[in-house]
Amino acid sequence: MADKKSSDRFKDEDMTASMSNEDLEISNNNADSKTIPTIIDDLDIQDVPGIGPTTAKKLRDGGILTVMDLAVASSEELSVEINSSKESAAAFIIAAQQLLRDSNLLDKEFVTADVALEKRKSLLRCTTGSKALDKLLLGGIETQAITEFYGEFGSGKSQICHTLCVMAHQPVEMGGFGSGTIYIDTEGTFRPERVDQIAASRGLDPSSVLKSIAVCKVYNSSHLELIIKDLGKYITDYKSRLVVIDSIISLHRAEFAGRGTLADRQQRLNTMLHKIIRLAEIYNISVVITNQVQSSPDTFFGDPTKAAGGNVLGHASTYRIYLRKSGENRTAKMIDSPYHPYSDTKFTVTEKGADDLEEETSSKRGK
Ligand SMILES: Nc1ncnc2c1ncn2[C@@H]1O[C@H](COP(=O)(O)OP(=O)(O)OP(=O)(O)O)[C@@H](O)[C@H]1O
Ligand SMILES: [Mg+2]
Repeated sequence: MADKKSSDRFKDEDMTASMSNEDLEISNNNADSKTIPTIIDDLDIQDVPGIGPTTAKKLRDGGILTVMDLAVASSEELSVEINSSKESAAAFIIAAQQLLRDSNLLDKEFVTADVALEKRKSLLRCTTGSKALDKLLLGGIETQAITEFYGEFGSGKSQICHTLCVMAHQPVEMGGFGSGTIYIDTEGTFRPERVDQIAASRGLDPSSVLKSIAVCKVYNSSHLELIIKDLGKYITDYKSRLVVIDSIISLHRAEFAGRGTLADRQQRLNTMLHKIIRLAEIYNISVVITNQVQSSPDTFFGDPTKAAGGNVLGHASTYRIYLRKSGENRTAKMIDSPYHPYSDTKFTVTEKGADDLEEETSSKRGK
């Protein structure tokens, strides 16, 4: 079982943000420390041109401790935090990003397409635990991308998330990231017992997997926004290459219910999602989000359900996969992707988590 005493860690470190010690439940920092470079140790915020001791202090007071934090900040928020104009906030952010580029920690602004192709070949992918799902995703979930799984209740969204945390901890040679996972649970459905079961039934060591997952139970939309704002710190602290947000929209959807509040809700979701996109790219991590469905009464043909969250969410996700239950089995359909073909596949949920159908496994064995 998970070690719940890790909250003490937050007292030891300079976690200045307004996050309570109970926010993240588990940590032993057991993930392989070699997998993610300790960039923050190498660069100081005062290495960013134009930032002297006074600005550095203002930034620190505003919770921006590292060059990475600054590079992923939004100019609106930063200008409020350091009490400056939006233009100078934007200039600091650009300078931080440039410093990361100069230090080879961030891609150059322009590269030729052949270099881009080589880079994409070297992207890390993490297996979902099901060969069929991996095939649909052309190898698994990618870093520097947001992968969204949406579908009705019981369609397997949370099960995929649980399985991914187990697989992400496996070494790269075994299809994992060799890293920890940050699991942001907005629905109270994370179950360490399930992680334990998935790991054990796959012949993996449940205790080291459990120690690699930092779980944060989120209670309301402002809490979620705050966690996302400070996510960079947690990614580094927990050496995570995978961030799971199950689900991205339920809290905002519940709290901003009336029509009059829709614009406000979308605006807040948008800010949060943009931050997540920047984090995925700059920290080279994979973000997996789940989303609910809503009925779309104007559909006369086909499936009258669509992903919740409207265009704001649709544009933020790099890959969108629609999950449907059909009896014991599930269908996953690639709905939106910049390069995957429009295709679907079947998978199931077993004690191993997301898994292949019995026939597929046995036919592959040549039966
Ligand atoms: N240990 C297990 N062994 C086999 N199947 C399981 C196990 N645990 C859960 N399941 C299957 O997973 C289903 C639940 O799926 P999941 O929790 O992923 O739904 P979801 O898509 O996240 O739904 P929601 O929108 O309610 O969060 C159960 O109905 C069951 O079929
Ligand atoms: Mg769920």
